Amino acid sequence: MISKAKFEIKDRDAAGRICRFTTKHGTITTPTLLPVINPNKILITPKEMKKLFGTEMVITNAYIISKDPFLREKALEKGVHKVIDFNGPIMTDSGTFQSYMYGDINIDPLQIVRFQAEIKSDVGTILDVFGTPEQSKKEAKKTVEETIKRAKQSMEIKKEENDMLLACTVQGSIYPDLRKKCAEELTRIKADFYPIGGIVPLLEKQRYTDVIRCIISSKKGLDPSKPVHLFGAGHPLIFPIAVALGCDFFDSSAYAKYANDRRMIFPWGTEKIDELNELPCCCPICTKTTATELKKMEKNEMTLLIAKHNLYISFSEIKKIRKSIAEGSLWELVERRASTNPYLLEALKELRKKGNKEWLEQYEPISKNKALFYTGTHTIHRPIIYRCHKRILQNYRPLPSTITIVFPEGKKPYSKYYMKEIRKISKKNRYINIIIKSHLGPVPIELDEMYPFAQSVFPERVDEETKRETKKMFLEYTKNKKILLWRGNETLHEINTYLPPKKEENIDMDLRRVSAVADIQFGKNASQALLRGKIKIVKSKKTGKIRNIYVDERHVLSMRASDGLFTLKRHGAYLLHNFFRYPRLRVVIKEEAASFVEEGKNVFARFVVECDPELRPFDECLIVDENDKLLGAGRTLLNRDEMLSFNYGIAVKTREPIIQP
Ligand code: GUN
Ligand code: ZN
Repeated sequence: MISKAKFEIKDRDAAGRICRFTTKHGTITTPTLLPVINPNKILITPKEMKKLFGTEMVITNAYIISKDPFLREKALEKGVHKVIDFNGPIMTDSGTFQSYMYGDINIDPLQIVRFQAEIKSDVGTILDVFGTPEQSKKEAKKTVEETIKRAKQSMEIKKEENDMLLACTVQGSIYPDLRKKCAEELTRIKADFYPIGGIVPLLEKQRYTDVIRCIISSKKGLDPSKPVHLFGAGHPLIFPIAVALGCDFFDSSAYAKYANDRRMIFPWGTEKIDELNELPCCCPICTKTTATELKKMEKNEMTLLIAKHNLYISFSEIKKIRKSIAEGSLWELVERRASTNPYLLEALKELRKKGNKEWLEQYEPISKNKALFYTGTHTIHRPIIYRCHKRILQNYRPLPSTITIVFPEGKKPYSKYYMKEIRKISKKNRYINIIIKSHLGPVPIELDEMYPFAQSVFPERVDEETKRETKKMFLEYTKNKKILLWRGNETLHEINTYLPPKKEENIDMDLRRVSAVADIQFGKNASQALLRGKIKIVKSKKTGKIRNIYVDERHVLSMRASDGLFTLKRHGAYLLHNFFRYPRLRVVIKEEAASFVEEGKNVFARFVVECDPELRPFDECLIVDENDKLLGAGRTLLNRDEMLSFNYGIAVKTREPIIQP
């Protein structure tokens, strides 16, 4: 059997993910950093790295090993793990970078792959052709073609040497269409691991816009279930954005190279030790020494200490990224880190471009564990805001009234803050629409407890760009609507000129809220399917918030206090299943897995055969078999493309099994 990489998603945020990656030398957690081990000159041993920084996997160079008679013999005899004395997973590179740096060196593209298998590398790399930024499109196309040809041939070798996972590098210089095509071709040959190559010169010149373009275009063409490595990206400044775009691995020779140049790595950039009077760091190295002492040290000693500091900083950033994914604050980390570097800050504008924002939205979770924090001009362009605005335009049904009253931004939740005013308005006429002109765009009052409208923190005054963006959204929403900006009693009188006062009972705000959230969350008109019959809304005694919704005595929905969104109950699933046509809201699984769901077990990705393309990570969904028989209600962990690609891990967490006669 040919070895396959086992790679499964455990948690996620933005288009980034926390995964478990299994090799024959153990399982590790990503995103992670592979320190580069120079087999000729081991500065810090991998074993020590594991102890000091928690390093789980390293990368070394097969080309360098193969060129040195002593190392070559030892590697062939005892394996690469003995050469660098490490029993965890080891990736090897092929010499591509050396041939880019030093010109034509003599490497046979297939021999070097065979050699990596022979020395028992866990992940070997093809000899891709380095695409430089200076290449014309024609030249770049040639290097892509040669890379693909070598990848195909190397995959054949892998079949003979079946123990090694093979990394096939995406090239294509700075041309997004070439990158995407290269990625698509490499996806077709089912490699195990996909580095994005050819970006070192872009990073060195701080051409971050190009770097982001390279990552996005490559990712768009790659199989989403495969690990992605950003080749040669060793500076932590780039880690958060690269992870947010779906990179899982980084490698760093920077820790040693910079140390050798007397430079210290920090999350915001690098600093020359000779220009520092103070070490702005509390790592175990910097707490034991001062800048002055460090500068006076003998070169080898200083290099070693700076290299260690550099790795402390790099791994600490990796840990921060993982923590941010777990709590759902990765975009905040991305924006905050970018704000320390003007080029990177500018480069973030790539994300909002047409084609990119739609791509990002597919991977964006439905809600998060933490509130959305404003960091600056980029916040308003986050995928979650783009999604909410789109859904309000498409799914939300305003009341059949001729006017919409607009309140300015206020305290959250808005319905509480504006309670008195809302009462006065609905006494006039209960069919008046109310929206808030908020810092996140127009918010219909019924949605004011839904993520992220209630769970967001913005300053009182926002920047001009945010104002411009929200104004655009506001104009789009109010197009063809008669709006009245709230100015107190004056507005109340004005209402009379549009709508005659109507003596009616108070508006049932709770029912309006339940309907509106259902339409936004499950799709246009979902409320019609769910709320037909005798409706009972049960509220929490403690908070007064909606908790459970019953229709004809049957439990259909629960509203989560944390994000104001619904959990789908058994009868609710049944109603939506009857109402929405296949494949809307559905995750379709193989017959053989049906009994597991009926027992309440989760759905594994390998059993999924089809899925609604509109489902997003952490969405409530219907689990059905291939005859569209309803098996249960669940919560997705993956979107459609991921469900259909992943062979490992959970696709849907089953909430409520449904056993039908
Ligand atoms: N190291 C840094 N960049 C690259 C690249 O593009 N390809 C390979 N194989 N190694 C690299
Ligand atoms: Zn330090």
